[in-house]
Amino acid sequence: MGEKPVINKGLEGIYVAETKLSYIDGENSRLYYVGYSIEDLAKYSTYEEVAFLLYYYRLPTKSEYELFKAVMRESREVPDEVLSIVRNMVRRRAHPMDILRTAVSSLSALDPEIDQRSREADIRKALRILSKAPSIIAAMYRFSRGLDYIEPRNDLDHAANLIYMMHGKKPSEFEAKVLDTIFILHAEHGMNASTFASLVTASTLADIYAAVVSGISALKGPLHGGAAEAAYWQYKEIGSPDNVEAWVKNALDKKRRIMGMGHRVYKSYDPRAKIMKELDREVASKFGGEAAQLYSIATKLEEVALRELSKRGKVTIQPNVDFYTPIAYTALGIPPELFTTIFAASRIVGWTAKVIEYVENNRLIRPLDYYIGELDKKYVPLDQR
Ligand code: ACO
Repeated sequence: MGEKPVINKGLEGIYVAETKLSYIDGENSRLYYVGYSIEDLAKYSTYEEVAFLLYYYRLPTKSEYELFKAVMRESREVPDEVLSIVRNMVRRRAHPMDILRTAVSSLSALDPEIDQRSREADIRKALRILSKAPSIIAAMYRFSRGLDYIEPRNDLDHAANLIYMMHGKKPSEFEAKVLDTIFILHAEHGMNASTFASLVTASTLADIYAAVVSGISALKGPLHGGAAEAAYWQYKEIGSPDNVEAWVKNALDKKRRIMGMGHRVYKSYDPRAKIMKELDREVASKFGGEAAQLYSIATKLEEVALRELSKRGKVTIQPNVDFYTPIAYTALGIPPELFTTIFAASRIVGWTAKVIEYVENNRLIRPLDYYIGELDKKYVPLDQR
């Protein structure tokens, strides 16, 4: 066993690859995709354009953009056999992330290019998964309410089409922009847990569907993608801005974590949370109702939690993107159990772009663990134990 090596629990601080896809400056609240600031992309770009950027490392020309969007639109349909799987799992009350994972996995059986390993074939497959994910999410929404599946509309953009497929109504420009912004903000984010899970799978030269299924699996947990849903329930538990002071003190005394705060890389305000907070202010004033109530609880919670955490010497724990997305989701009629699936649908571009980038210069990911158990134990046959 030799001398005990340095063990980097959680692989904290370990670099595993080079990338040109995204850069996070966690000390200064900065995030870039291929060199473009997240603020500019959220303001001026669209999810489809961001997807092009992440696959091709540049913004598209007008004709490339139109062609790319057309390819995505044509790939939205989900075969009946996959919809049946979704329907059956909904009936069994499976978790939406498990349904999404299983549906994506089952799509692999129907992809004629599954065994083709080239950059272009991988982008084509990634686009198919990316384009079908919202249809799968909308199917879950409809089936779980006893409603029929609505076919995708080819005259709507990616985010607008998802809202349409859920509610059967074309969204307003503002509603579509809100969801499109959420898609952009979640598209890619360095070497996070789910991206690393995708990369581990892809590094064995397993196919891109397998990599995406790994990503979805890793994203499910409340320390990663599941935090927005947990934040929503936290706001419901708090119930009113008047309860925030007492709730925070009690939570921190009990060593409870405030969901939607803290981040392994950001030791400053997550720039995505800042964009979401500004958008939510508009959402709350336009929509009122539950969204406005959640917004008033969340903003108060931020203020009190930052003050109380700072008193405890924890100044680096600040809101992350999941803190403010529940408000926008609620305004769009997206229920909490589907929040993480939208995150997953957005991040498919990040997982696949990173996997495609990594396998071009592939190295099997195979770390080590340090054995601390016994050796040379005597085997006792079953009937003698
Ligand atoms: N609320 C209260 N205290 C916190 C929080 C929080 N949200 N996050 C961290 N802390 C405290 C920890 O209790 C710990 O305190 P201690 O040193 O007294 O034990 C200290 O801060 C350091 O925490 P770590 O867990 O070591 O930090 P790590 O880098 O592992 O945590 C994580 C990152 C997992 C995101 C954490 O901040 C957390 O659990 N946050 C809540 C869940 C969440 O919002 N996740 C979404 C992340 S963003 C994303 O995936 C899109």
